[in-house]
Amino acid sequence: MSLTPASAAPPANEAPGVLIETDVNLRPYNTFGLPAVARRLVRIREAADVRRVVDHPELGRAPKFVLGGGSNLVLTKDVDSVVLKVEIPGIRLLETRDDAWIVEAGAGVVWHELVGWTLEQGLPGLENMALIPGTVGAAPVQNIGAYGIEVKDRLEAVEVMDLVTGRPALLPAEVCRFAYRDSVFKHSDFGGLAGKSVITKVRLRLPRPWRPVLGYLEIERRMAETGITAPDARQIFDWIVAVRRAKLPDPAVIGNAGSFFKNPVVTEEQCRDIIGRDPGIVHYPMPDGSVKLAAGWMIDACGWKGKTVGGAAVYEKQALVLVNKGEARGAEVVTLARAIQESVYGRFGIRLEPEPVVV
Ligand code: EPU
Repeated sequence: MSLTPASAAPPANEAPGVLIETDVNLRPYNTFGLPAVARRLVRIREAADVRRVVDHPELGRAPKFVLGGGSNLVLTKDVDSVVLKVEIPGIRLLETRDDAWIVEAGAGVVWHELVGWTLEQGLPGLENMALIPGTVGAAPVQNIGAYGIEVKDRLEAVEVMDLVTGRPALLPAEVCRFAYRDSVFKHSDFGGLAGKSVITKVRLRLPRPWRPVLGYLEIERRMAETGITAPDARQIFDWIVAVRRAKLPDPAVIGNAGSFFKNPVVTEEQCRDIIGRDPGIVHYPMPDGSVKLAAGWMIDACGWKGKTVGGAAVYEKQALVLVNKGEARGAEVVTLARAIQESVYGRFGIRLEPEPVVV
């Protein structure tokens, strides 16, 4: 890696220029641990850095790729766009209202550290989303969620910087078009913001009074086992951490991007048809009458657990997760994913949709 200051070092007290790093190895910056190189990379440590990039004579009009914690990413090739690596720090309690605490966090903060910080401050509400890999800035992009809560249920607003004008905007949750693992930040068409803005800060709303979200099988099981009928937020946090550690691979040890496919949503009629052929299929009725099917169960039923393509493999303990056995390349992950899609389609007539972004 070499460092190329794009402008001469600024005199003291003057706004710093843009530091462009060239030929940066992205392997440490994606949780799958896939090899790829960024031709040019700029670290965004404060919102004003986005403005500096936009105003930069060389970078201003170049295509850009925003990189958060790299936890929802499959890199199949080197990245020619200018990589903006978001590293904005800081967490603070912004406001205490009668109905909620509002917490603001920099987009570069590690999500799990934010969850831990809020609990230490006595601000419960994020505990069900403990240990989800990635950064705060990436959380709204795919509307992360686990054990009965999605980030949209706790989101007040998202602060963004426009990649063309370099201007800031505060987007209330209502305009973020949140859906299951989806948002306005994931799309570039129909007014979507993918590639058009950078999330710099996120404001979370933690409702008061706190009410636990318990209606999930694994939490109910822990309650029954321990006899704790009214767990506090810290207890729920500890349970979720234990459940996730038991069945999901730690990206620091085995490269992965969490669930590789979304759980498909079908009509009641389609579900009945599938149950007719596969009575054991795990499914959850949704409030609108549709039915969510467990993709992990379907992949498992097709016999994929432990199967490999080169260095890419289906995780032994949870078929919804693809892992890097060490030296996987992005193309191998994609080949494995396609083979799984075809096999699930062949048996169930359902096309699985990947969760991560493939570059
Ligand atoms: N199952 C199998 N075999 C498998 C995997 C799952 O039979 O190999 C069955 C399980 O026994 C269970 C059902 O499928 O009955 C669903 O599995 P699980 O409860 O583990 O949850 P999931 O649907 O696989 C979703 C989210 C996870 C989230 C958990 C808990 C998606 C795509 N995934 O997983 O989110 O942590 O629920 O809420 O919605 C992520 O998005 O990266 C992620 C990890």
